Amino acid sequence: AQARIGLIGLGTMGAALALNIAEKGFPIAVWNRTTEVTRAFAANAGDLAQNVIPTETLADLVAAIAKPRAIILMVPAGQPVDDQLAALAPLLDADDLVIDAGNADFHDTNRRDGAGLPFRFLGMGVSGGEEGARHGPAIMGGGTASDWDRVADVMTAIAARAEDGTPCAARMGDAGAGHFVKMVHNGIEYADMQMIAEIYGMMRDGMAMEAAAISDIFARWNTGVLQSYLIEISAKVTAAADPHTGKPMVDVILDRAGQKGTGRWTAIEAQHLSAPIPVIEAAVMARNVSARLDERLAGEARFGAAPQPCAIDPQVLEQALIAGKILCYAQGFTMISAASGRFGWTLDLPEIARVWRAGCIIRSAMLNDMAAALAEDPARNLIMAPFFADLIETAIPALRQVVSQGAAAGHALPALASGLMWFDLMRTGRGTANLIQAQRDFFGAHGFQRIDGLDAPHGPWGGLA
Ligand code: 6PG
Repeated sequence: AQARIGLIGLGTMGAALALNIAEKGFPIAVWNRTTEVTRAFAANAGDLAQNVIPTETLADLVAAIAKPRAIILMVPAGQPVDDQLAALAPLLDADDLVIDAGNADFHDTNRRDGAGLPFRFLGMGVSGGEEGARHGPAIMGGGTASDWDRVADVMTAIAARAEDGTPCAARMGDAGAGHFVKMVHNGIEYADMQMIAEIYGMMRDGMAMEAAAISDIFARWNTGVLQSYLIEISAKVTAAADPHTGKPMVDVILDRAGQKGTGRWTAIEAQHLSAPIPVIEAAVMARNVSARLDERLAGEARFGAAPQPCAIDPQVLEQALIAGKILCYAQGFTMISAASGRFGWTLDLPEIARVWRAGCIIRSAMLNDMAAALAEDPARNLIMAPFFADLIETAIPALRQVVSQGAAAGHALPALASGLMWFDLMRTGRGTANLIQAQRDFFGAHGFQRIDGLDAPHGPWGGLA
């Protein structure tokens, strides 16, 4: 029998995805550059081996797949994808379909899509880490509707299911749309993680709480409005003990965060789109600062350690996190809207929120409500949706208290503070850009609009210069 689909790249994610596909009853042909990896994969597939067809050359892989073929690429983003596409080109027919399921830069996906590849092409964002890939990821597809429809049965079968049973797999739009949405997902992932870490810091440094006590608080929050995968794992990692020293595991981990770049891409793209996403930008900045450990140690030696005691009721911390989370997602969805216009996609905001409800790293209870609020009016900023406007109104005083008391006590809270600053800007009808406009006109005769509509495009700066 021929395979329903093929997969190239049996690294952690590729292997997990292949087993998921085999488990759902689709015969899958697999190939890896190193043949031993392919053999080991097939040997360890257990009961699923009956649905796995290991192949040792690219030509064998192609021959093993039923026509018109569909092949998933799970190789490192960047040049390896281009190399693999080039290697496949002479082997495939025009109606064969290659699906790049890695963490590609969506600009690359757009480029590849427009480069006249001699076969069909989809870019697909897959979230959920190894566990998700194996048992149900969130899947964000990009390409034509007819290409997506060819593999939609496989993708919906392997995807996570939301509580209401809907599979978390959908076509987001043309070409790079799937990888774009996955990129913003990762930006939000960075922001969610950073805000949780800032609140953790308030408890650890402001209130001298032990990791175990912090774990209990996270576990409690995970039963309420904040219920989410990231809060759940925060409770777990703060509960774990180091097998070497017996100390809390988090207390022996160096405070230096790695990053593979997707958060940074989100921040850069947001600038290109003039989309304000300060919480995500702050999260990327904080990771960059975290990497500069020597400078931070020198700063502490010169100016004294920043965080001082600062007691805040955990219920207030919880509310602050709720506010920060809503503000961050509102920014993320606004960025997605802006991209829709810029790239000629019709990105469906409620659909994106629905796809993110399960399987992915940012899955949370709140995404159900976000999907509902965006469905009411996708063009409206999420903070203006009645449900979230009410939640924010209740939670903002807590965020303000945490940011102001925290700042007064030397706690660095870049993501939470950025959220609050953005919120206050967003409810300031008369801002201060009138001064910016006067300055621009003074030094560059850039002109301005008057509030009374009078036609006098420049100020009387002449005599003052
Ligand atoms: C996911 C994740 C994943 C991402 C890692 C690493 O949705 O499964 O977003 O795709 O690659 O989280 O990100 P950093 O190494 O940049 O933290």
